[in-house]
Formats: sequence, C-alpha cells, structure tokens
Amino acid sequence: MSGCPPLGFRLARASDLLAIWAIERVSFPSPWPRTSFEEELNNPISYILLATSSPPASEEIWGYVVYWVVAGEMHILNLAVHPAYRRQGIARRLLQEALHRACQLGAKAAWLEVRPSNQAAQALYRDLGFKPVAKRRRYYHNTGEDALILALSWG
Ligand SMILES: CC(C)(COP(=O)(O)OP(=O)(O)OC[C@H]1O[C@@H](n2cnc3c(N)ncnc32)[C@H](O)[C@@H]1OP(=O)(O)O)[C@@H](O)C(=O)NCCC(=O)NCCS
Repeated sequence: MSGCPPLGFRLARASDLLAIWAIERVSFPSPWPRTSFEEELNNPISYILLATSSPPASEEIWGYVVYWVVAGEMHILNLAVHPAYRRQGIARRLLQEALHRACQLGAKAAWLEVRPSNQAAQALYRDLGFKPVAKRRRYYHNTGEDALILALSWG
C-alpha cells in the first residue's frame, strides 16, 4: 500500500497487552509469551511504544517496539507491525520516534539482534542507518540461526 497513514504514538499500558500479543502471534514463528510483555511493562528500564491510528478514528494498535534504555544505550528487543498495515512506513516512523525518545533519555547508541533470514527487518534497519557490528553464534534456539548484531550511534 502507498501513502502515509496518520499515526499516533504512545506508551503501552496493561489494557493494551491482548492487542499487542495478537500482533506478536501473527508476526513471529516463536512469539514471545504474553507474560514477557507483562514483565517488560513492569520493568523500569523498558518501554513498549505503540503506533496507533490517530484521532478522530477510534484507536487501533498497528505496531509496537519494545526497547530498554540503560547506561546510555538503547537496546531494541522486539518490533512488529500488524500484517494488514505493513509497507506503509509504520515501522520506520515508529522506530524514528523510539530513537528520538531514547535520545532524550540520554542514549547515544542503539543496538539490536536480527535473524540473517529476516530480509524485511534488515532492509528497514539499514534504511535507518544501522550497521552490522558482530554476530552471535546459534543465538536463535528454535532454528539454530546466528544473530546479526546491528548498531547505530549518534553520540
Ligand atoms: C519488519 C517489519 C516490522 C516492517 O514493518 P513495516 O511497517 O512494514 O515497515 P515499513 O513500511 O516502515 O518499511 C520501511 C522500509 O523497510 C524495508 N522493508 C520493510 N518490509 C520489507 C519487505 N517485506 N521486504 C523488503 N524490504 C522491506 C523497506 O526498505 C521499507 O522501505 P520502502 O517501503 O520505502 O521500500 C514487519 O514486516 C514485521 O512486523 N515483520 C514481522 C516481525 C519482524 O520481523 N520484526 C523484526 C524483528 S528483528
């Protein structure tokens, strides 16, 4: 789809967890359990930022990113956009918003792990300036795949 849907951004709360988890389950072959999102909501260094439809439409959750900000670094743990809303620039804008918020909290760099087979995510991160910096051997236990570690620094 083309065009840029008007987006809202806000931090998640407990009442959003079912909607987040519904996106998680259709986005990953090994989704996080719901309890992992609960733990992140209760973790003081963790943020779950949502991309939503913007008012006046009744609010729908279209995507989320989970990240930590600690010791001057942002660690991106999870990211997904609902399949019905992909390729409209939502993940790009959501990550840009999360990077901006992490920067305001003092982060000078961001890093994440991605599967070498996940070409869509790698293209997105490359687009935002992330560069490969290392590899974690056999990081994903379900497939035995390595993880690529990508980083972006601005400090
Ligand atoms: C990866 C993901 C979050 C991208 O979300 P999205 O909202 O569709 O991404 P965007 O529309 O913002 O795409 C931005 C850029 O990323 C790249 N990209 C995104 N999806 C792509 C795809 N399927 N194939 C190739 N490039 C892709 C493109 O460069 C795109 O820019 P363009 O549309 O101008 O060409 C989404 O596909 C998803 O939820 N996938 C399943 C979960 C997942 O893999 N999460 C990442 C874990 S590391």
